[in-house]
Amino acid sequence: MPWSNRVSWIALLLAFLAALLFQPEYSASDVLSSHGNVLLLTAHPDDECLFFAPTIQAVTRANTPVYSLCLSIGDADGLGSVRREEFGRSLDVLGVPKDRRWVIDHPDLQDNFTKYWDAETIADAIYPYILSHNISTILTFDADGISDHPNHKSLPAGATYLLTHRSTELPTLPRLYSLITRSIIPKYAGILAPIASKFSLSQERTFPVFDAHISQLYRALQLAFTPNPNTKTHVSPQPVLVSGIPEYLTALQAMRAHASQLVWFRWLYVLFSRYMWVNEWVELRLDD
Ligand SMILES: *[C@@H]1O[C@H](CO)[C@@H](O)[C@H](O)[C@H]1NC(C)=O
Ligand SMILES: *[C@@H]1O[C@H](CO)[C@@H](O)[C@H](O)[C@H]1NC(C)=O
Repeated sequence: MPWSNRVSWIALLLAFLAALLFQPEYSASDVLSSHGNVLLLTAHPDDECLFFAPTIQAVTRANTPVYSLCLSIGDADGLGSVRREEFGRSLDVLGVPKDRRWVIDHPDLQDNFTKYWDAETIADAIYPYILSHNISTILTFDADGISDHPNHKSLPAGATYLLTHRSTELPTLPRLYSLITRSIIPKYAGILAPIASKFSLSQERTFPVFDAHISQLYRALQLAFTPNPNTKTHVSPQPVLVSGIPEYLTALQAMRAHASQLVWFRWLYVLFSRYMWVNEWVELRLDD
């Protein structure tokens, strides 16, 4: 094949990819249509951007107020005061205003790769925020914590503790959603992740019946491969939020606010991680 011909094929392919990836795409999702305030609960400054950027932007775009509560200043390497500032700048980029974001620095909730956080301590720490901002949806990690960090893994148990032990003290009982941890290959699928997710979302629209079977199968497989014996879960249809290219670039820009964290392997992460593009959620139901 002549050289110029090859170049035009590549250009065509790139144009096709750009067209495919440009727009964000969201499944009909109760995360987005929740008429109330949404709280994103994270463990360390930069989680909001490394894992949850598609969701923050999607919910904000749906005109639902997003609040962001980070339970530590990320002081494992002594950089806590810097990282607290970085958290603010990152959320400036992602669109969560100053009066809707907080970082807690609690002696029993310190950034530590070897420590699980106590569920009751977490529940006590988040309770005042839930109450005073009338939070109706809590979004956080699942029990596998995406990156296997025990601080991440502690959060759904803490939120569950709050909803089960202090439900009578809350005027509205928030719904709780976990970000699904995928196995290693889909997790680092990079740009293939939004392509595959968009493909399956478009199938859902075109072949709803067919897709009901596929998604049942998918859920069954998911339960088989990521068993989660610690939390009582009820799996309901999963909200899927896929960023477009502008949202991905916004997430990259927010990541640049976390200058203290931008060592080479984090650049690799932002290039290959599914979570920079795609967030899949599952609701944790406490009643069954
Ligand atoms: C709290 O939010 C719920 C919706 O989740 C709403 O029905 C209720 O009126 C709100 N309460 C206050 C005091 O704003
Ligand atoms: C993390 O916890 C371990 C054990 O509890 C402790 O030895 C270590 O010093 C802690 N690390 C930091 C950075 O606080």
